[in-house]
Amino acid sequence: MRIMVINGPNLNMVGIREKGIYGTRDFNDICNYIKLEAEKRNVDITFFQSNIEGEIINAIHNTYYEKYDGIIINPGAFTHYSYAIFDAIKAVNIKTIEVHLSNVHAREEFRHKSVTAPACIGQICGFKEFGYIMAIDALINIEKELKIEN
Ligand code: DQA
Repeated sequence: MRIMVINGPNLNMVGIREKGIYGTRDFNDICNYIKLEAEKRNVDITFFQSNIEGEIINAIHNTYYEKYDGIIINPGAFTHYSYAIFDAIKAVNIKTIEVHLSNVHAREEFRHKSVTAPACIGQICGFKEFGYIMAIDALINIEKELKIEN
């Protein structure tokens, strides 16, 4: 199973930015942790991070051309206003899970709304980096269920 993990703006600053909210573990460390957990589950992970909306959209499109089985996306602040990312997720029609390190619902009002989550199977938030592992497990489970159905 191949999964693309996409992180949006400012996530490369995790470990430096607002440590009380996002934790002290730096971004590379988090990616290594996700990779290790994925390997334990026989899942092949590719990482993409960008602070630029169009690059994130291109990365989503690539999951279609490169035939990925799933997408895990943390769109950062784009979550709250990027209809273009919503459209990109819809366009590729690949199972997508939205992840947030923090509990966006317990924070500022503008973070309560995700315009991208309705294009996804579901949203996981508030569990810091463990949320990405939960998302991997969810995608594995969905794939298993699909195999049983077919
Ligand atoms: C975030 C939550 C967003 O509201 C914020 O803009 C981020 C990080 C999270 O992972 O908790 O950059 O996506």
